[in-house]
Amino acid sequence: MKVLITGASGLIGTELVKNYLISRVNVNFLTTNKSKINQIQGAKGFFWNPSANFIDLNCFNDVDSIIHLSGASISKLWTTSYKKKILSSRIDSTKLLYNSLKNLKNSHKVKNIVSASAIGIYPSDNHAVQTENTVTSQESFMEKVVLSWEKELIAFESLKIKIAKLRLGLVLTKKGGVLGPLKIPAFFGLSTAFGDGQQGQSWIHIDDTVRMFTEAVEKKWEGNFNAVSPNPVTQTKLISELTKAMKRPFVLPPIPKFLIKLIVGEMSHLILDSHWVSSEKVQNKGFKFDYPKINKALESILK
Ligand SMILES: NC(=O)c1ccc[n+]([C@@H]2O[C@H](COP(=O)([O-])OP(=O)(O)OC[C@H]3O[C@@H](n4cnc5c(N)ncnc54)[C@H](OP(=O)(O)O)[C@@H]3O)[C@@H](O)[C@H]2O)c1
Repeated sequence: MKVLITGASGLIGTELVKNYLISRVNVNFLTTNKSKINQIQGAKGFFWNPSANFIDLNCFNDVDSIIHLSGASISKLWTTSYKKKILSSRIDSTKLLYNSLKNLKNSHKVKNIVSASAIGIYPSDNHAVQTENTVTSQESFMEKVVLSWEKELIAFESLKIKIAKLRLGLVLTKKGGVLGPLKIPAFFGLSTAFGDGQQGQSWIHIDDTVRMFTEAVEKKWEGNFNAVSPNPVTQTKLISELTKAMKRPFVLPPIPKFLIKLIVGEMSHLILDSHWVSSEKVQNKGFKFDYPKINKALESILK
């Protein structure tokens, strides 16, 4: 079996590649950075530049499945030009994969693609449980980005390639992601929640994330799937469990909404939006979480 991974050098990709190499699966990866081509020992790197419509077509040689993770980070400042990059990096890369396979016709072996997506596709809601059937809107920038990204992915169906979209929640890992910026104030005993702290945080441990991608590839999942643990928590709970796991106090009152909006503007959605997302569909598929509860997940990450 051979997989092609885009965004392999990122938070999820790094762990995914490691896991595949341990299992002796052949890995090709596409990178937008030429200096990373030879960086992953045991995997074969290829250069692409989605905004310039360039791709090294050798990346598809003997590939059975694609895992699509690439996209500009959403945690950098949302200036007008950077917002365009967040969107275009996902659309252009998806289009380029699709057009390449379409042009290769029968000279490729790709049977399925599993792509990252995000729970940011759901409108913020303080109470309702969001399932894969929840009606989406285009109110916030994140909703627009994820909807357009998912729409672009549907094109693979016309090539008879199965497509699964994993709508990721907050991925918890030692190496950064959402915990990166939360760990520093926690270390100094300065943790705080944002707004009223009651917003739902749907999270998933990195090990479960990696296993869900590999299972989706192997079992050829099709459709949309929420990639979140079965037990979302309020933001206050997430931060208090983090401080507990770090053996630090949780002392500060929450920072009011208006202040956050004043400081980070539209990006405030990333910390103020509420998502209580259901994992029922993946569990019904037979997926078993190693880390269903936040305390054990954080303990394992911070130990
Ligand atoms: N981590 C989370 O909590 C989370 C939650 C929801 C959704 N997601 C989505 O899941 C995907 C993977 O997440 P991640 O946390 O692993 O992301 P990440 O660490 O930011 O890595 C994404 C990778 O995308 C590539 N990339 C960066 N800028 C790009 C651009 N302008 N055009 C094309 N490729 C670019 C980079 O790889 P190269 O330099 O090698 O090209 C980078 O390593 C992302 O699309 C992310 O939005 C993540």
